Amino acid sequence: MNGGPEMLARLQARRSVRTFSDVPVPRDVLERLVEAATSAPSATNRQPWRFCVVTGGAREALAARVRARVLEMRAIIARGHHGDDFGSYGDFFHEPLEAAQAVIVPSYRTHDDLIAQLVRSGGEDPARYDTSAAMQSELCATAAACMALLVQADAEGIGACWMAGPMVAREEVEHALGIREPYRMLGAIALGWPLSPPAPRPRKPLGAVVRWVDTLRDGEG
Ligand SMILES: Cc1cc2nc3c(=O)[nH]c(=O)nc-3n(C[C@H](O)[C@H](O)[C@H](O)COP(=O)(O)O)c2cc1C
Repeated sequence: MNGGPEMLARLQARRSVRTFSDVPVPRDVLERLVEAATSAPSATNRQPWRFCVVTGGAREALAARVRARVLEMRAIIARGHHGDDFGSYGDFFHEPLEAAQAVIVPSYRTHDDLIAQLVRSGGEDPARYDTSAAMQSELCATAAACMALLVQADAEGIGACWMAGPMVAREEVEHALGIREPYRMLGAIALGWPLSPPAPRPRKPLGAVVRWVDTLRDGEG
């Protein structure tokens, strides 16, 4: 494939952006971000994802709920022995949402473990067999969708930060956005025109994360 090194450089240049200007993100750009997300692969092409695009007053109210939860937790943690460890860490849970012009909340639905059901119908205990359920395919597919969204945002010049922090207010956020079982929130993505480019975060060297295997441990193949 042409452009391999350029693509790699592009991926490596993407940053999580947490500070944004107050210029709104146009709707057509937001639509392209979601469309990019839906280009992701998914197990049996189930496309188990949904995306809630939150703007305006709703975005502010959402950020305020997350902030309130963080402050509540910070007060509890301060009573323990690790108050200093939490420190300003909790700010990363809500500040990008407050600065954002739009927040996209991805969610995904889980599916029954069909193979386990078939094994059971054949008279065996499915617990004796590994199945793909262990991989949480729907969560994986939605994570892949989020990455596609981040890459598209980067190409559009839009700053983005996918955040686990807002999960501290999961129940409230799900309720407020109408995310109902079997759908589950998968963090939130803060979006806006970037104010200042963040410094690159280091990556572990390839040698620390890759093993090349050409012989299996049992000696076969
Ligand atoms: C699943 C996930 C959750 C994250 N949660 C947060 C978060 O709650 N707050 C935040 O500021 N950044 C969050 N980040 C961004 C990471 O801090 C960031 O990706 C990492 O430091 C590497 O920096 P880079 O994305 O600029 O390369 C999260 C990233 C991922 C993938």
